[in-house]
Amino acid sequence: MVDFELSTAEREIKERAETFARDHITPYASEFDRRSEFPRELVQRAYEAGLMNLHVPKSVGGLERTLLEETLVGEAIGYGCAGCASAIGCNNLAFTPILLAGTKEQLGKYVKPLLAADEVRLASFCLTERESGSDAASIGTIAKRDGHEWVISGEKCFITNAPVASLHTVFATVDPSLRQKGISVFMVPADLPGVKIGHLENKLGQRASVQSEVSFENVRVPGDALLGREGDGFRLAMMTLDMTRAGIAAIATGVAQRAVDEASRFASTRKQFGQVIGMFEGVSFTLADMACRATASRHLTRHAAWLADRHLPNTVESAYAKWFASDSAMTNAVECAQIMRGYGYMEEYPAAKLIRDAKLLQIYEGTNQIQRVVASGVILKQAAKLDTGFRLEYKGKNAPRI
Ligand code: CAA
Repeated sequence: MVDFELSTAEREIKERAETFARDHITPYASEFDRRSEFPRELVQRAYEAGLMNLHVPKSVGGLERTLLEETLVGEAIGYGCAGCASAIGCNNLAFTPILLAGTKEQLGKYVKPLLAADEVRLASFCLTERESGSDAASIGTIAKRDGHEWVISGEKCFITNAPVASLHTVFATVDPSLRQKGISVFMVPADLPGVKIGHLENKLGQRASVQSEVSFENVRVPGDALLGREGDGFRLAMMTLDMTRAGIAAIATGVAQRAVDEASRFASTRKQFGQVIGMFEGVSFTLADMACRATASRHLTRHAAWLADRHLPNTVESAYAKWFASDSAMTNAVECAQIMRGYGYMEEYPAAKLIRDAKLLQIYEGTNQIQRVVASGVILKQAAKLDTGFRLEYKGKNAPRI
């Protein structure tokens, strides 16, 4: 049965997130952006409003909501401000490898205390390094076994929420030459000796979310900091991104929709040549294209999340959602500025920030080129089993056989 209708619980959380964004984010978003610092008070409010740690089981202190519900929240908050959405949503990314591979004991020791606190606690996902971005298997952070402990040494960069995190989910390798097979993932409390926050990144957009370097100088962690088995890290990173890319797509859908709403509001009030500019086909057709992109992004996003909620493969669908929605966010933001003409270029109007924020959505959690690598890899693998029914009758010489 295909059913596009949201359940009562889904509608409730969507409306709660929309009200939260309308009351606490949208009116202050440009101020958060100007300040360019972590919006701690806002994140605390989101935590108290039950809009964080959504897919963490109740037994660990989370809200045990679905990934689909997480995308409803992501879109609503992203509509208000994509930077705030990244700050609020980052725990989902950092906790996912722990939820995928952590034992009851590990969840109880490393995650539960964070979620039991009255004050919001944050976690960061430490994969990217200066020399290892798209090629995630090339990380150089080393994990060395020493008796029952592990010693972690290396440096990560562009890490969202690192400066405010209590726990880091860290990918490290026993030997870089082993590439994917050498990588393991560890839970590293931020207050351990040797964990240091470095350079704070100065970004074009999404300035309400903080990113920094974080280094690990001979950081000793106990054996139970290892998630899954030694060598499981790369697979866990990929499985995590399959889930969380739908979350980025949701934020992007929020940005794409915001661009539609700001542009149509402007076009229905701004008069030139004696009529509102929305009456000109050059503007109205652009608005229709923008609205279609936002709607298609929403469908792709919810489908990717829906599959994950049913434990069905969603690698391709989450890649489609992430790239289509973030490309749509970027295109719609640029079109919004174009419809607002001179005002679209001014920071006092919404389009300029939408453009700056959308750009990052096309880059983080795997560039949109990497999404195509991921999707085409699966498509080509499936093609080996494909029978389209076509039978070759071509009689020419040396023609390719399919
Ligand atoms: N699920 C489970 N296993 C998977 C998988 C998946 N989705 N994808 C790959 N694997 C497994 C494969 O089956 C394979 O296993 P075997 O060796 O047993 O066959 C193994 O992993 C290696 O797979 P690949 O050969 O595909 O590995 P690769 O090195 O060629 O990977 C890549 C290429 C997919 C492009 C990967 O490097 C990648 O996703 N890169 C992008 C990294 C990224 O997204 N970084 C973002 C960081 S997070 C961020 O931005 C956070 C922030 O602050 C907001």
